[in-house]
Amino acid sequence: MKDLIRTDHLLREDVELLLDTATRFAKTPLAERSFIAGETVVIHMTKPSTRTRLASETAVAHLGGTPIFVRADELQLGRGETIADTARIISGYAKAMIIRTFAQSDVEELASNASIPVINALTDDDHPTQALADWLTIRENFGNDFSNRKFTYVGDGNNMAHTWLEMGAVLGAHVVVATPSGKWAPNASVVARTEELARTTGGTIEVTHDVKSACRDASVIYTDVWMSMGDSEADRAEKFTALGEFAVTDALMASASSDGIFMHCLPAHRGEEVSAGVIDGPRSVVWREAYHRRTTIQSALFHLIRGDIKGRLA
Ligand code: CP
Ligand code: NVA
Repeated sequence: MKDLIRTDHLLREDVELLLDTATRFAKTPLAERSFIAGETVVIHMTKPSTRTRLASETAVAHLGGTPIFVRADELQLGRGETIADTARIISGYAKAMIIRTFAQSDVEELASNASIPVINALTDDDHPTQALADWLTIRENFGNDFSNRKFTYVGDGNNMAHTWLEMGAVLGAHVVVATPSGKWAPNASVVARTEELARTTGGTIEVTHDVKSACRDASVIYTDVWMSMGDSEADRAEKFTALGEFAVTDALMASASSDGIFMHCLPAHRGEEVSAGVIDGPRSVVWREAYHRRTTIQSALFHLIRGDIKGRLA
């Protein structure tokens, strides 16, 4: 597989390879310091980013390369040059391309016209590199055996909810997603696709509106912001009303399993989707999770450039 553009394109063995190498990079950040010496990686983002941008630039530096960060208004893409032409040009200069934007189809078009690996650094639909950091953190806490554990996401049925379903299905885990019904539920086609995949990997997909039962005895309670980048401000009041009962409060966290942890991709809004007591409390692993954004992007760059990732669609 040339690109990492959708979480459920990965095989479990690909994920294990990526996480093993990320663990190596966590211990020895400069283990492959000459890998892309003298080369560049282009990072293009049309949405803001703290973690993914800094993790990506640092990962490229740790592999010996130079990151070139370009905003939308700095490329001719913003003035009508096509995605395909942009992909061809960047392929002539860089060893890989990392892109954050709105439409998943734009990332797909870029990848299909690029001869170099393209990594999805978040779209409205998915956030694959976040999934790698999340499951590396989960593996550090619980090991590689996900059986007899429940991994719960609560809140908006957004890109992170999709990512949670997809990686859970890839890894054969029991994942639960609790969201309001209707407008803020995860995309039905993602649910159907991940249910089908989970049947082949031994996983279980559970989509519910019952937040209390979703969190009871969970090994992980995961949440995300209620207003994602690109969401309409006109929806805020209605959305916050619908999501109110899905906030991760101290009481909800107390219902998790005795070794249960709290996770969040960040940025967080204390007092909205999570209480300060939970995110700043002893069960929160969010800082380790954020740290692993660098190690996992470094690992993804390393293995994609080497051509080591098999992928499910191959
Ligand atoms: N979690 C994450 O993707 O953070 P940024 O938006 O800051 O990159
Ligand atoms: N759902 C959030 C994730 C941020 C990392 C967003 O898309 O803004």
